[in-house]
Amino acid sequence: MNKAKITGIGHYVPEKVVTNADLEKVMDTSNEWIVERTGIHERRFFNPETDTVANMSAKACRMALDRAGLQTSDVDFIVFATITPDYFFPGSGVLLQRELGLEGIGALDLRNACSGFIYGLSVADQFIKTGMYKTILVVGAEIQSSAMEMNTRGRGVSVIFGDGAGAVVLQAAEGNSTPGVLSTHLHADGRFAEELYIKDPGSSRRPEERLSQETIESASIRAHMNGNTVFKHAIQRFQEVIHEALDHNGLTKDEIDLLIPHQANLRISRYLQQQLEMPDDKVYNNIMRYGNTTAASIPIAMSEAWAEGRIREGTLLCVAAFGSGFTWASSLIRF
Ligand code: UT7
Repeated sequence: MNKAKITGIGHYVPEKVVTNADLEKVMDTSNEWIVERTGIHERRFFNPETDTVANMSAKACRMALDRAGLQTSDVDFIVFATITPDYFFPGSGVLLQRELGLEGIGALDLRNACSGFIYGLSVADQFIKTGMYKTILVVGAEIQSSAMEMNTRGRGVSVIFGDGAGAVVLQAAEGNSTPGVLSTHLHADGRFAEELYIKDPGSSRRPEERLSQETIESASIRAHMNGNTVFKHAIQRFQEVIHEALDHNGLTKDEIDLLIPHQANLRISRYLQQQLEMPDDKVYNNIMRYGNTTAASIPIAMSEAWAEGRIREGTLLCVAAFGSGFTWASSLIRF
């Protein structure tokens, strides 16, 4: 059976930097509150004139392919994770495919929110293991800023999220001893679906309610989150799913060279680090600069960690995520 190896990692973030001071101008919040509760100093917001989920992800994919020494024509499948697609349908996978000039190859869309990238990695890993595809782009990309309510009513959510895209190239490598994805672990608990969600325009509403003035004013087209509940579940599930991955592979936490948690909140990452008794240099965080970019957060962090030399040949990387659904997931990857 083939093993799937990550041969390239790339990312793209929009140019526009939005600081906490910028948010203070449009809502009742403060730099102190945001930094203390989330660790975020700034985030990137897309430019509606130039940035789309599809073209941001194309930039991330081109960087990943360049770093892998590959051409776009080498790609034979796309797995695209986003909860903020450019259109209600079709999904952004086909738009990325068009941007890359890859007409004809399959493009699969996933909507698993913050866990979307790891779900996507898992799907791509299975396709490669079975020999169905040889070179897959796994993408996480989001434009969250246009879903946020940029006023005091929306401040509990809107100060956290940001925009960006990340991608990896996953390729078939012969043999079991080669580097590659060791395992992926996926979970969900739909009982908590409404703890972090955007309700409208949902299809189970009558047509006239889908995007009525009332719907818009009630903010049901904006992200809603019960932050405290999400936080409590996150810190428990992150730990569980990391231990599940370690146990599955007969490894210990001390053997992890780098942990990249989904960048949800710096307090969550720090708590996790403390529970796992890991030193600072083994945990990668960039939420300070980008906020929470949902499905894009792990591949953006992987791309930056790789560029900084923190992911090298031999590195044992652990990625883990928790978010809307609830969904949670982890993977151990040997480089
Ligand atoms: O990526 C998907 C997964 N998402 C997460 O993992 C997010 C998990 N949750 C969180 O990160 C945190 O719950 C938040 C950062 C969202 C909120 O932090 P918190 O420490 O849980 O604050 P809170 O919601 O308990 O709110 C505390 C106070 C409230 O005021 P009162 O009721 O104590 O008077 C809020 O109204 O802070 C107020 N508040 C704000 N104040 C200033 C809420 N948002 C803001 C704000 N600026 N932006």
